[in-house]
Amino acid sequence: MNTIWSDHIQNIGTLYYSRTLKFSDAYKEPYQNAFCIGNHANILEIGCGPGALTQSLARWYPDSTVTGVDRDTAFIQFAAQQAPHIQFLEADATALPFADNFFDVTISNTVQEHIEPSKFFEEQFRVLKPGGICLVLSARRGIQITADCVAEENSFEQEIWNRIEHFDHNMLEKYAVGQYAMNESELPAAMEKYGFQQISTEYVLSNLTPDNPQNSKELAYSMINAHRQTTLDAVNTIPHTAPGVVSDAELNQLKTRINEKYDKRIALYNEGVKQWDTSISLTMVVRGVK
Ligand SMILES: C[S@@+](CC[C@H](N)C(=O)[O-])C[C@H]1O[C@@H](n2cnc3c(N)ncnc32)[C@H](O)[C@@H]1O
Repeated sequence: MNTIWSDHIQNIGTLYYSRTLKFSDAYKEPYQNAFCIGNHANILEIGCGPGALTQSLARWYPDSTVTGVDRDTAFIQFAAQQAPHIQFLEADATALPFADNFFDVTISNTVQEHIEPSKFFEEQFRVLKPGGICLVLSARRGIQITADCVAEENSFEQEIWNRIEHFDHNMLEKYAVGQYAMNESELPAAMEKYGFQQISTEYVLSNLTPDNPQNSKELAYSMINAHRQTTLDAVNTIPHTAPGVVSDAELNQLKTRINEKYDKRIALYNEGVKQWDTSISLTMVVRGVK
């Protein structure tokens, strides 16, 4: 049972709700244009996490077969529960349990930067059929603006976050998080180095601004609540990343405070008091052909 990522780095809710928005059907067309995948493809998602992109792929390519793999047991269990029609497997991206020349497409989102490049690319090259497509998605510079009612921290919150910051120095190093990150020119060059051809890049921008009038009330709530979940998950990881540093009572108090702030944000939305908090993200899509 491997739950390192879901316990220590990003919880299920953080990844699932943010990615469900980022890969919502509103962005289907730009992603499909960037992916350029034919029908009836056999698609493998590497490091699928809780499976939000996997679900979008299954919706966007209904005539294709989609499989998701990840090393984290909790992610795979959650993904399989959410989407029983999709095959999810616990597997290591550096030793995929598939035959050579098996898939038409391999795809990953924010995974390449955590895995040693020769292992990451060579394994995908192996399982792809000749002419198969490798798609590597990564998050680029974005814009995050938090509503004032959420950003404000009282002295209790500040004290807790300071305590944790001083405790937890090397968690990201310990788990090689982002250790192999590449910039916008290094990534396509790396794909070429590992044998892919016809390399191309695309960028897809997603704009999650609850106050935009074109968003339905449900969508605006989902945007606000995705942030709420990310913040609550940050609290949920504290016992793993900084054991014994914050008491259970303090953790509960912190979660209550966070929920109050996000309830206030929802109340402002309902009253029509615009905050213009936003999350703009730019996803780079690098496409290569075996
Ligand atoms: C930043 S998360 C992204 C998850 C998912 N792609 C998403 O966008 O929600 C990175 C993922 O890569 C997975 N991962 C890291 N190294 C891996 C490996 N060697 N094999 C399989 N999965 C791996 C982690 O478990 C985690 O789910």
